[in-house]
Amino acid sequence: MNKKMIVAIDGPSGAGKSTLSKALAQKLDYLNIDTGAMYRSVALLAQQQDIDLHDGDKLKKLCIDLSIEFVREGVSERVLVNGVDVSAEIRTPEVSLLTAQVATCPAVRDAMLQLQREMGESGGVVLEGRDIGTVVFPRADVKFFLSATAEERGRRRYEELLARGVTVDLQQTIQEVETRDAADTARSLAPLMQADDALVIDSTHLSIEDVLKEMFTIVKNREAELA
Ligand code: DC
Repeated sequence: MNKKMIVAIDGPSGAGKSTLSKALAQKLDYLNIDTGAMYRSVALLAQQQDIDLHDGDKLKKLCIDLSIEFVREGVSERVLVNGVDVSAEIRTPEVSLLTAQVATCPAVRDAMLQLQREMGESGGVVLEGRDIGTVVFPRADVKFFLSATAEERGRRRYEELLARGVTVDLQQTIQEVETRDAADTARSLAPLMQADDALVIDSTHLSIEDVLKEMFTIVKNREAELA
């Protein structure tokens, strides 16, 4: 039997990571671990429990009592936090903003790191995030770094919001993408960084299908190498 591998996918927001990691995990029959959803879940709970985001001790306590599960239902995936489906709630713009703040808390990062390692260490996983190939699994079997220009990522986000019936300004959306990139890259703890041994895929001019095909081929070749 082939070795069940650890596949890391890092990159800035809007590079297609979520769609691609989900599709790649399904094609490989692996578990998809959306680490951004884990930070989002902490932010949502902190908001619901009215926790001050500067209070590291309270956030730490919240993480100790936390259970996060990823459940696949056909082509869609659900995030269960302490048994409750929070898939939609963690995606609101308000929670996105709170998450960027929560993700800078050392106690939260430490707790998420432990959880991610526990969930992924036996392999058969695709982990998607910002620091998977550099911090969480520096010895992952395959590391991808997905990128696209900020303009293209902003345009994708704009179209996604329009499709959901949310009216936004294109230039403002591009600017928000740039602001988030700057915050993710500049933070001192586990910043968005490309691992030296990551395979970089620039999706600016590529379709999701093309990128997926390329990633799948790379993973399968690696699997054959390790067999
Ligand atoms: O990928 P996303 O948009 O769902 O991520 C939400 C936030 O969490 C974003 O501000 C970056 C942060 N994040 C992180 O710091 N480390 C990760 N491994 C994943 C996400």
